[in-house]
Amino acid sequence: MSGSRRRFLQQVSAMGVAWGARPGLLAQTMQGMAMPSGPVVRSDEPPRVMLHSLGLTPFVDALPIPERVTPVGPHPQRVVMREIHAKVHRDVPPTRLWSYGSTPVGPLIEGRSGRAMRVEWVNSLPQKHFLPVDYSLHGCGRDLPEVRTVAHLHGARVPTKDDGYPDDWYAPGNSRTCHYPLEQESATLWYHDHAMGLNRLNIYAGLQGMMLLRDEREDSLHLPNGRYEIPLVLYDRNFSVDGQLYYPTSGDLEHPWVPEFDGDAILINGKIRPYVEVEPRLYRLRVLNGANSRFFALSMEKGQPFWQVGSDQGLLSAPVKLGYLNLAPAERADLLIDFSQAAGQHVHLKNGGLEILQFRVGPARTRATRTAGVKDSGSSLLPVKFPAAFEPVVRTDVATATVTRTITLDEALNGRGDSMLMVLNRKRWMEPVTEKPKLNSTEIWEFVNLTEDTHPIHLHLVRFQVLDRRTFDVFAYRNAKGLRYLAAAMAPEPNEMGWKDTVQCPPGMITRIITKFEGYTGKYLYHCHILEHESNDMMRPFEVVDEA
Ligand code: C2O
Ligand code: CU
Ligand code: CU
Repeated sequence: MSGSRRRFLQQVSAMGVAWGARPGLLAQTMQGMAMPSGPVVRSDEPPRVMLHSLGLTPFVDALPIPERVTPVGPHPQRVVMREIHAKVHRDVPPTRLWSYGSTPVGPLIEGRSGRAMRVEWVNSLPQKHFLPVDYSLHGCGRDLPEVRTVAHLHGARVPTKDDGYPDDWYAPGNSRTCHYPLEQESATLWYHDHAMGLNRLNIYAGLQGMMLLRDEREDSLHLPNGRYEIPLVLYDRNFSVDGQLYYPTSGDLEHPWVPEFDGDAILINGKIRPYVEVEPRLYRLRVLNGANSRFFALSMEKGQPFWQVGSDQGLLSAPVKLGYLNLAPAERADLLIDFSQAAGQHVHLKNGGLEILQFRVGPARTRATRTAGVKDSGSSLLPVKFPAAFEPVVRTDVATATVTRTITLDEALNGRGDSMLMVLNRKRWMEPVTEKPKLNSTEIWEFVNLTEDTHPIHLHLVRFQVLDRRTFDVFAYRNAKGLRYLAAAMAPEPNEMGWKDTVQCPPGMITRIITKFEGYTGKYLYHCHILEHESNDMMRPFEVVDEA
């Protein structure tokens, strides 16, 4: 959908609804959905005066580094969700936030492959939400406690009871202990809220954090560590001038849901456009797009290259040199960047044309300190000294797939072309499970995108590989004239050739992935990771069933 059309969503009307270009279908397929039926009730809230973050002086706040927590021993790690107030910028009054700790981004949890971990997720949040709940969304009724949370460890292979199923939420005053076996390779994991219909607000309020899972293969590469490894959680927010979070609404009091939006301010680890002091040497950046719906288009000022060594689910086969990186919500990138040529300078990480992070590179080391440095001299890890290749990621043979599933990505529009609903296979979340892969079987899933948006599709439980993308005739497909490809299939980009758990599905294309359903039987889910889409209703269950 075009940006201008998006921006008009404030004007959701009571007119009819259509699937893309196909009016009338919705009424037959979709029952009991959240849809305006009478005249639109306008909010009587006084309009808030919004903060324009570009008017703020950039790079006046140091990048916060989340506290590192390494759970040890038999006791579960206790993580408490609570309301906090934090300064997002030197010149902005403190902001009310919800957090998994005492800082805007929750603690950085360190894990080891094969070493199980238990986490007690304690809900000590207030009883009332401070962001606009849409009670008309599925699973969001007024009869439920208004504040509900359930933590999900995104990217982890977890038994279903500990996976943070959206309906497994609990109210303030309760807690749940989850068992994470972590029998999987090193990866950048992400814990975030997953409560049905509310996680778009709960994550916006701040309920997210990173977990780094490490293993021997990663250790053997001797990548920069300790203070030379920097977690970067990127996201965007809107603020009013008094520094409070503003989550946009449709203007309709009964149906405040909006299909997506870009926030005015870009934050990294809790600060708007911060700076970080670095040494003139190689760094490892663990980047996560933790935004509700914004895609990041990252590059270094002056086109300085960087190397991607890992994606969502761990290391690539070899470092991939990049000048530009596009990261959809929920995608992660493990990057190496070399500041050894920039001693004494300020260099910037940019999103599009905007500098969002300033690296203040310290002075060059003198000869004396360089020779005095024992093993870890800055120059020992220059890009030229990278291992040219890591252990290869073995590509899954398509011949091993026993089932191919076709899943359409659809959007319902009202008569004015406003988005009302996004779904998978024209089915809503609560309809019976239709995808039932067998344990240990390999399947190909092809996502047929009939909308005008790129949707980052995520599967719980599994890691997958991207097979290819292919443009097709959307109009013909929609009008039951069959599948007509318009071009040859395109191989994934080199930095998409590793293990993933979230894949960008561009409009007008069929995106294919291949995955083996390993680990556990039970109910899981797959969904678009644009949180507004996920909640209304671009999310579906799947169930892994016994092999027999
Ligand atoms: Cu980031 Cu359903 O997860
Ligand atoms: Cu997930
Ligand atoms: Cu989507």
